[in-house]
Amino acid sequence: MATQFIAAEPVKPFRLPAACFKIGSFTALIGVSLGIYMGISHDHSLAPVHVHLNLIGWVSMFLFGLFYKAHPAAIGKVAIAQVLLSALGYIAMLSGLAGLLITAHPAFQPLTVIGSLMVWAGFVLFAFIVARVA
Ligand code: HEM
Ligand code: HEM
Repeated sequence: MATQFIAAEPVKPFRLPAACFKIGSFTALIGVSLGIYMGISHDHSLAPVHVHLNLIGWVSMFLFGLFYKAHPAAIGKVAIAQVLLSALGYIAMLSGLAGLLITAHPAFQPLTVIGSLMVWAGFVLFAFIVARVA
């Protein structure tokens, strides 16, 4: 019983890094696939989407995960909000940006702007968390 309790305890704090790693590596798959499409088609019009999928979705999410893995004490409601804001933010930002670049329709602008502000807010929270814990 005691062994079970000890074994079960450390699992919970590590769920957030695992979520970051999974979101990051899945996004990397989409980002590099888009890169290959751009290379094959010689159509680089979605390059800004490719860049930010890879650098926010893959690199930054993975770095968030590594940070939370190294500092489990940082994991709490604020950290969960930080990861959610960042992940939902770049999905919104890059869906909006892809829509804008493909259709040039201004209807995609609010999604791009709101997503960008969510990503920004995610980085603000992250700086706050790092300053408090690291
Ligand atoms: C199979 C993998 C990849 C392929 C085929 C690929 C392909 C491309 C292509 C075709 C461009 C456009 C270049 C241009 O328009 O001048 C580009 C730009 C870029 N890619 Fe990738 N990419 C890949 C992976 C990655 C990864 C993993 C990252 C980041 C972690 C990344 C970051 C960038 C950046 C920052 C640019 C903009 C560079 C610039 O404007 O000079 N790419 N990529
Ligand atoms: C709220 C978040 C962000 C916004 C709104 C944003 C916006 C932009 C804009 C407007 C550009 C210029 C695009 C162009 O000239 O076509 C750009 C380029 C770039 N951004 Fe971001 N960015 C964000 C976050 C990031 C992050 C977190 C990274 C890296 C970790 C990053 C890496 C880059 C790079 C490497 C370029 C140059 C790409 C190129 O030359 O094609 N950005 N970004």
